[in-house]
Amino acid sequence: GTSTATPALTPLTGTIGALVEGVDLSSPIKRQTEQFLNDALAAHVVLLFRNQTLRPDRLLKAASIFGPPMEQHYSQYRMPEFPTIGVLSSRDAELRPDGRPILLGTESWHTDHTNHARPPKATILYALSVPPRGGDTSFANMREAYARLPDDQKSSLGYLRTVNTLDTHVPARNADRKKYATPAIHPLVRTHPDNGTKALYFHPTKAKRIDGLPTTDSREFLERLLDQVIEPEIVYRHNWQPGDVIICDNRAALHQAHADYDPAEGRLLHRVIVEGDVPI
Ligand code: SIN
Repeated sequence: GTSTATPALTPLTGTIGALVEGVDLSSPIKRQTEQFLNDALAAHVVLLFRNQTLRPDRLLKAASIFGPPMEQHYSQYRMPEFPTIGVLSSRDAELRPDGRPILLGTESWHTDHTNHARPPKATILYALSVPPRGGDTSFANMREAYARLPDDQKSSLGYLRTVNTLDTHVPARNADRKKYATPAIHPLVRTHPDNGTKALYFHPTKAKRIDGLPTTDSREFLERLLDQVIEPEIVYRHNWQPGDVIICDNRAALHQAHADYDPAEGRLLHRVIVEGDVPI
């Protein structure tokens, strides 16, 4: 039936993440609960719901609480009947030329689809099966990362823009590279549309360069910046159980999946991304 009581929020760490209880995402959600969840997402950056059972159509309905689902650019992972759902299945992982499996999102800290002019507001991940150990996903609060920077660094980073493309991305099909060939330029420090807070915003490998810098210097610069700002205090590392749903606010977070398990053990997540604004 329809959830009636106000959902309960319990912080997962001191800086990022909240467990949401009292919401069954498979049933119709009231307007006021939708608002509550969007506010909670902006405040806590990551929301966790446990014990959910979501057929693909219901997963899309649940994702729609946060915005209209948008197409993902890795066409090979689209669920045929519900193409806005990406199927992340370790057993079906494609192999690199050297034989290592390509496990999406494990390469580095990143935020999704920054090569789009309007990158997704949020990423929704739903775990169907998980390995007995490992396969966690970590989330870092980039609003907190920005807040911790010295003032002079805050102001110098405020001038920088990243030029983002799909063209060097290993998992991307050539047809998808062509379709999404136009680079997107985004501020390195973005302002959250809901609450005006600032956050560091970049995908270190999709950012081909910082506008005005050579590519190699740009890569080093972003990697150094990541090393500097990612601290345990701003990270929530999630150990998945089947039925877990996580919503990540891409305007204020980076995430990374951990490739520390045997892909044959089977890790299956359904992923939805929802439309966002032009970052400013
Ligand atoms: C991703 O980066 O969106 C994949 C996350 C995951 O598999 O945990």
